[in-house]
Amino acid sequence: DKPKVTVIGSINMDLLTSVSRLPNQGETMVGDTFEMKPGGKGANQAVAASRLGAQVAMIGKVGNDALGKDLLKHLANENIDTSSIEIDQELSTGIANIILYEKDNRIMIIPGANNAVTEDYVNKWRREILDSDIVIMQMEIPVQTIIWCADLCGENNIPFILNPAPAMKLPSDVFDKALYITPNEEEGNCLFGDNNETYRDKLITTIGSKGALYNNKVINTYPSEVVDTTGAGDTFNGALAFFIASNTPIEDAIYKANIAASLAIEHLGAQHGMPSIQQVEERLTEIRMGQ
Ligand code: RIB
Ligand code: NA
Repeated sequence: DKPKVTVIGSINMDLLTSVSRLPNQGETMVGDTFEMKPGGKGANQAVAASRLGAQVAMIGKVGNDALGKDLLKHLANENIDTSSIEIDQELSTGIANIILYEKDNRIMIIPGANNAVTEDYVNKWRREILDSDIVIMQMEIPVQTIIWCADLCGENNIPFILNPAPAMKLPSDVFDKALYITPNEEEGNCLFGDNNETYRDKLITTIGSKGALYNNKVINTYPSEVVDTTGAGDTFNGALAFFIASNTPIEDAIYKANIAASLAIEHLGAQHGMPSIQQVEERLTEIRMGQ
């Protein structure tokens, strides 16, 4: 049976431009390329889990516009249950302006409909949540919603992964209730500073090309040729949810999630390159053979 993963989070269209340098204040310059690609941390994590073989439901909102319709269609094509994604009549679909520069990215988000993912809205889909093997949340929807969902999951013993991205202040009982907390280094420093011993058994910090840090131990990854790191963390989180929900022991789950992310960053766009389980297995075999 497929493990059931529910993602509560953001859906964006990514407007991706690549440039060989950044414009100065007041300057108009010619960039290199432009592409529109599906994104949003929530949707990205949903796609990552679905490609690996999870049964995924996404709880979120898009706007009543062309981008929203495209994204809904796209998520359905990715085998994601989109019945819990509503079209907001007032707000625009979330977008992310992404500037790719020197293999790194700068992202500016306009949340739009993602801001309408309120507690009341999520409550309409509580059956979906209570029916899940695992839930994942990020922080591109209102903080109040995250707090409310953490309570709901806590009260009903539904394990959830909190990916605190972007990092924002949260009451500590949200962290207490989480099964795992998955910041990157910056987000981890911002939320916990040097005080990360408190959550030592549930903190999984992604550390870029070095892999992930868990329980004072570095769990490494594959040194891939980077094309675009956008969505690397999302691939990691979606994959982590899938592997945990498939009863993979945690260190192994982290390693496999690292490998999934290493495959995704070899392609342009957050979701492009997110692997199937076969692709992860192939890479694992390659690594074993190379040793
Ligand atoms: O984590 C990457 C994502 O962050 C992008 O897809 C963009 O939409 C922003 O939400
Ligand atoms: Na990619």
